[in-house]
Amino acid sequence: MTSKTPPVLTRFLIEEQRAGHINPDLRLLIEVVARACKAISRSVNKGALGGVLGDAGTGNIQGEAQKKLDVLSNEILLDANEWGGHLAGCASEELDDFSEIPNPYPKGNYLLLFDPLDGSSNIDVNISVGTIFSVLRCPEGVEKLETQHFLQPGAKQVAAGYAVYGPSTMLVLTVGHGTHAFTLDREVGTFVLTERDIKIPEDTKEFAINMSNQRHWFPPMQKYVAELLEGKTGPRGKDFNMRWVASMVADVHRILSRGGIFIYPRDRREPDKPGKLRLLYEANPMSFIIEQAGGASTNGMQRIMDVQPEKLHERVAVFLGSKNEVELATRYHREAEQQAR
Ligand code: AHG
Ligand code: MN
Ligand code: MN
Repeated sequence: MTSKTPPVLTRFLIEEQRAGHINPDLRLLIEVVARACKAISRSVNKGALGGVLGDAGTGNIQGEAQKKLDVLSNEILLDANEWGGHLAGCASEELDDFSEIPNPYPKGNYLLLFDPLDGSSNIDVNISVGTIFSVLRCPEGVEKLETQHFLQPGAKQVAAGYAVYGPSTMLVLTVGHGTHAFTLDREVGTFVLTERDIKIPEDTKEFAINMSNQRHWFPPMQKYVAELLEGKTGPRGKDFNMRWVASMVADVHRILSRGGIFIYPRDRREPDKPGKLRLLYEANPMSFIIEQAGGASTNGMQRIMDVQPEKLHERVAVFLGSKNEVELATRYHREAEQQAR
């Protein structure tokens, strides 16, 4: 391979290690997760021919029926990560509690948190799905791993990424020095760097939200979206387009690629529930990726990566994407909060 050919993931990670951005254990962790995503991609792409569609007949702690691929993807990630000696433990959307590295394997210094299959409701209708992962350091001197060790703000992440199983399978990754995209070359079985240091446009004309929930939104959301819909003749002075894939990974990848704002707000149906998306393995990794690409990510009031988690599966409202658009939506929510005092 000449230096003119784009680097594969391994070479990219070696160069990140030489630059002092990651250490060998974190490099191994990312390679292992990427390899697991290739295995998940293979199962996803088999579809009906692989006997992997449909419900598993089980439920998870989220109160959702699990798809067969939710369970299979979860197992692929757990099995891939147990023997390498790089992890102290894992947390998954599909596991009630965290999972320790089983004896006799050595334990490492990192915690891996993941949503093994994001957008599960789309798998049976052949629409893009993905895998989301987040990496934290295990606190120093931990003898016995406990849930509290996973409850770190997103700002503590050392790496985050997602795989999107779409027309092509892509891996998007940050280790805190920009956001980069790799495309899977199936014939060779490697992820090839296809976009280095992605930058999200600061403004946009495209929003992503599930409009069917509109009647349940609180006033600042009503105001913000009503102005988008008024378009050119309204206060925004421009027309907007809408997209909603219902796979966060697919919506975020589009926004990373061409700008946009993704919103999943809290609403009146369950006012105490801060939203649908999970903080530790959906919102935090996506926020890290988006911020490293020059975007913004808040819960309507504060930076998502500053939120101190209280529970492993806690949910959070999400406003992420083009910086100026997220700041405007957040400003509306903060103003409403001020007026309510
Ligand atoms: P998951 O399949 O891991 O449960 O995640 C689905 C999430 C997210 O991917 C997506 O943005 C959102 O659910 C869609 O929610 P609605 O179906 O309510 O639109
Ligand atoms: Mn998800
Ligand atoms: Mn999921």
